[in-house]
Amino acid sequence: MTDVSRRAPRIAHIGIAVRALDEILPFYRDLLGLPEVPLDDADGARIAGLAAGDSLVELLESEHPDSPIGKFVAKRGPGIHHICFAVDDLDGTLDRCRAAGVRLIDETPRLGAEGKRIAFLHPSATAGVLVELTEL
Ligand code: CO
Repeated sequence: MTDVSRRAPRIAHIGIAVRALDEILPFYRDLLGLPEVPLDDADGARIAGLAAGDSLVELLESEHPDSPIGKFVAKRGPGIHHICFAVDDLDGTLDRCRAAGVRLIDETPRLGAEGKRIAFLHPSATAGVLVELTEL
């Protein structure tokens, strides 16, 4: 049964894998005019955050070839790497996904780039999109 008090999920950020932050940051920041938001590095990636309304664009540059972003760019080139949804109840959502047979990359939430708890779902269960979940 749907809990009507639950707040609606939203897109927290879109992670875009890039070869070099310096090359692409001017497009999003200067040409599109998205304000830059300071973010810590995470998962072996340097991250440039840009505000797009209530959502962020995160440009992800690999710090070393063996990082997740490094492998992604080597295999597919730059592009959309993942979409992060902020949900009302991260643990409950993970439990529902697990119960529904959705393959989880993170069995339990861990700390992400924005200092919030996150967990990734496997693209095999999400129409080929790497989905990250975080908290509202
Ligand atoms: Co992310």
